[in-house]
Amino acid sequence: MVPDWKAIFRGTPQSETNFATVELDSDRLPKHIAIIMDGNGRWARAKGLPRAAGHHAGMVAMRETIRAADDFGIQALTLYAFSTENWKRPRTEIQYLWYLLDEFFQADINELVERNVRISFLGDISKLPSYSQKTIGSALRKTANNDGLIVQFALNYGSRAELVDVIRMIAQDVKDGKVDLTEIEEALISSCLCKNGVPDPDLLIRTSGDQRVSNFLLWQIAYAELYFVDEMWPDFSRELFFEAITAYTKRERRFGGLK
Ligand code: FPP
Repeated sequence: MVPDWKAIFRGTPQSETNFATVELDSDRLPKHIAIIMDGNGRWARAKGLPRAAGHHAGMVAMRETIRAADDFGIQALTLYAFSTENWKRPRTEIQYLWYLLDEFFQADINELVERNVRISFLGDISKLPSYSQKTIGSALRKTANNDGLIVQFALNYGSRAELVDVIRMIAQDVKDGKVDLTEIEEALISSCLCKNGVPDPDLLIRTSGDQRVSNFLLWQIAYAELYFVDEMWPDFSRELFFEAITAYTKRERRFGGLK
């Protein structure tokens, strides 16, 4: 189905998009978009606010981005919300992030269900507080039968840790004689990664002007298009998202081959 772009933008109060310029080739939309939501702290500092205020504004931007991805007809969205390295932050900041996760799901779960969104998670959530794990379990259950946009939250996620787990798993299978060395191929490794039914990302967006991938989906983004946005995450908007997708539709993906 071709999304009705004009209606989508009309529904956004802050939008000043010139509809005459809205031209998106729906056949070329990325199926899976991954986002590194960076810059909450700098956004807050620039406004003389505590870092928590930046994260709260980041949660609001996250909500809008999920809505926009659904409206744009994207199939899967993966959001880097907490990395394995983020445990180095002060305890109060970490606790606030878990509180925000809870606040988000309490406020938004009904809308997500109505939008036919399926929630999933990446990363080792067993290290999260038990109330966060309950929230996650509940979001998984309530959206399990939905077949619209898939939203994956990467929580306590690190790509190197994920690859170490896969290597251990395959090594064990080789040791047990279940897998032969000759069977270790890209497809096998790929199949051992947590997929939640989504293909590898087509587009990776990072906000805040930093141009790094920060241990995010290192295997999966091998052929993703990278798109860097100067704005801090709380300022990421439907328009900036639309610009990123538009830029993607104009890129030529060759996957190492020729045009
Ligand atoms: C990176 O900005 C952002 C994070 C580590 C947290 C992302 C959290 C949200 C978007 C809010 C929703 C929360 C959850 C848990 C779903 P930064 O703090 O590293 O910013 P800085 O680099 O400017 O300091």
